[in-house]
Amino acid sequence: MGQEITLAQLRQWLVTYASRIKSQEALLTELDAAIGDADHGANMRRGTRKICERMADPEFRHDDVSSLLRAVAMTLISNVGGAAGPLYGAFFLRAAQVGQQASAITLDELATMFRAGLEGIQQRGKAQLGDKTMIDALQPAVEALEAAAKEGLSVAAALEAARSAAEMGMQNTVELQANRGRASYLGPRAIGHQDPGATSLYYLLESAAETLGESTGAPAAANRQAAETPAKVSRPT
Ligand SMILES: Nc1ncnc2c1ncn2[C@@H]1O[C@H](COP(=O)(O)OP(=O)(O)O)[C@@H](O)[C@H]1O
Ligand SMILES: [Mg+2]
Repeated sequence: MGQEITLAQLRQWLVTYASRIKSQEALLTELDAAIGDADHGANMRRGTRKICERMADPEFRHDDVSSLLRAVAMTLISNVGGAAGPLYGAFFLRAAQVGQQASAITLDELATMFRAGLEGIQQRGKAQLGDKTMIDALQPAVEALEAAAKEGLSVAAALEAARSAAEMGMQNTVELQANRGRASYLGPRAIGHQDPGATSLYYLLESAAETLGESTGAPAAANRQAAETPAKVSRPT
């Protein structure tokens, strides 16, 4: 315990996610072509590219965790059409609401943010586990993250557990009939296809495991103190 996840790592997470989406865009399109309208790859590509563009802007000054996540949410909500944009937006917005106005967070805080994000998606989309949506990848990952945090695992081990849970959840969507989203119009014909949103959500966890687990050496508490100087207070957006 005590290991920190820094703002720089969270930014790297988003950049890594964007590059994963870019490399898997064709697969996401193909999955959505089978049970939706073939736009999930393009939707996610546009949203993640915009996030990277905004973060690269010298005017971008979201220098605490909560403010960064809120900016990500707003970028997704205003740039991504379809169901997924507002749903991912809800994830980041709710995570921002419980996120810290600090430049580093603990694993417990990350788990709290992911739980809030899950609740945000559910409040907006009303999907439950087993409805063949992104929830099927996210919920098991959140539960794994919470369990790992409780057991005092390292950030790296916790995120690997969450990644693995998300992967299983994503794979489980193949056998499911959809109860939410476009795929629900297909009834039993959706069975046999992996859900595109669960797949993009898996990449979010995969990217997190790649970027947030690396030890940065400093204990979170020390960094937190440094981050709570007045200069780091989040500014209104
Ligand atoms: N109500 C919902 N709750 C959670 N996820 C949903 C919901 N509706 C759709 N999704 C997710 O969104 C994905 C489709 O996203 P996308 O293709 O970008 O939007 P659209 O369905 O509007 O074309 C689905 O694969 C599913 O995972
Ligand atoms: Mg679609």
